[in-house]
Amino acid sequence: MATDPRGAANPIPRFPAGFLWGVSTSAHQIEGAADAREPSVWDAFTAEPGRIRDGSTAAVACDHYHRHTEDVALLSGLGVDAYRFSVSWPRVNSPGGLDFYDRLVDELLAAGVRPVPTLFHWDLPARLDWLERDTAHRLAEYVSVVVDRLGDRVHKWITLNEPAEHTLLGHALGTHAPGRRLMFDALPVAHHQLLAHGLAVQALRATGARDVGIANSHGPTWPASPEPADEEAAAFYDLLLNRLFADPLLLGEYPEGIGESMPGDVASDLEVIAEPLDFYGVNYYAPTRVGAPRGTEIEFGGVRIPAELPFTVRQIENVPVTDFGWPVVPEGLTELLTGFKERYGDRLPPVVITENGCSYPGIDDQDRIAYLDGHLRALHRAVEAGVDVRGYFVWSLLDNFEWAEGYERRFGLVHVDFSAPGTLRRTPKASYTWLREVLRAQR
Ligand code: NOJ
Repeated sequence: MATDPRGAANPIPRFPAGFLWGVSTSAHQIEGAADAREPSVWDAFTAEPGRIRDGSTAAVACDHYHRHTEDVALLSGLGVDAYRFSVSWPRVNSPGGLDFYDRLVDELLAAGVRPVPTLFHWDLPARLDWLERDTAHRLAEYVSVVVDRLGDRVHKWITLNEPAEHTLLGHALGTHAPGRRLMFDALPVAHHQLLAHGLAVQALRATGARDVGIANSHGPTWPASPEPADEEAAAFYDLLLNRLFADPLLLGEYPEGIGESMPGDVASDLEVIAEPLDFYGVNYYAPTRVGAPRGTEIEFGGVRIPAELPFTVRQIENVPVTDFGWPVVPEGLTELLTGFKERYGDRLPPVVITENGCSYPGIDDQDRIAYLDGHLRALHRAVEAGVDVRGYFVWSLLDNFEWAEGYERRFGLVHVDFSAPGTLRRTPKASYTWLREVLRAQR
């Protein structure tokens, strides 16, 4: 039985004044209305048999495109300051596409909720390819179009979401769109996304934007044992997850040995990539236990890790897991953020937690409450330890299309009834009510 974190005896500690409270979603996962946008790599991938666990598609998803008014009401009922959503590049490329975001921004502002758009959350137009350098320039052009239209009302921007997962899962392992299994030949995809980010920052700055960041996934990496082979494997995994993107962004250089694998004039690209940021977005879910390779393919958290990788991901013993099999380790968030401050020092801009959440079934979701409660306390400990954290966004407002997992993993504060396609009825879960009370207490 979960403890009641609302209990006056043990309230969540107060976060600094001006702290930004929000929830996150992304376009492809909630919007639907696939006929009102050009196809993305995810539409193409989803159409291939066997790619999505439950055989579903995101053609309708939560139908947020048509139900945005109801969803904005859920946001204002929750009492969040801000809403992080993503703008779909394939939709913006289609007639009337920007009108949708224009209306959404107006509705959010009328409801007293600050819009925080992410400009790229994995739904690349199907005719583009991150192996091509030109895609970085195409992204910057698209960003200019969006900012021209929304920049009078939107003041906080996120360029890319989790380029690490888009590279690793989409292009190295092939479990996400576009489904390539290039292993280390996927590294140019990382470089081109980083370049796209830098060019997008420049495009945003050119219009006077002063609150610009990126959302990267991070988590502590724990070696399976003190054996050198495990330590080495864990250090390599840490480099891929925690440094491959953060080092170029914050230090203007790739981790040792990586720059040589990148295409183009890397030194001059790095100057663009390291454009100063106003905040650094961290998506945190769990730490990872990593050991030396075992020479056999394993399945972990829904992802098949090929035998030829120089590490294996192991279970973390003696901690609860979500229904995705992800370990629940709130103190990993404190460790991650204090470690980041140590590594990057003054080069680390203020941090915003742009995603944190978990997948559990049910509407009386006490497990989710316990997860969020634990992570908020862990985040507060990072603040006490001197990390400059300015905001926290729960993933996610709604149950939605969880990529290769389809609709079976439910991350929402609000339940969506996908079995009733006509209604897609939204039902706030216990965690929604809990978070509303937490936010009230923080005011
Ligand atoms: C990170 C991604 O940004 C988001 O799209 C996804 O749904 C969550 N993690 C949960 O896996």
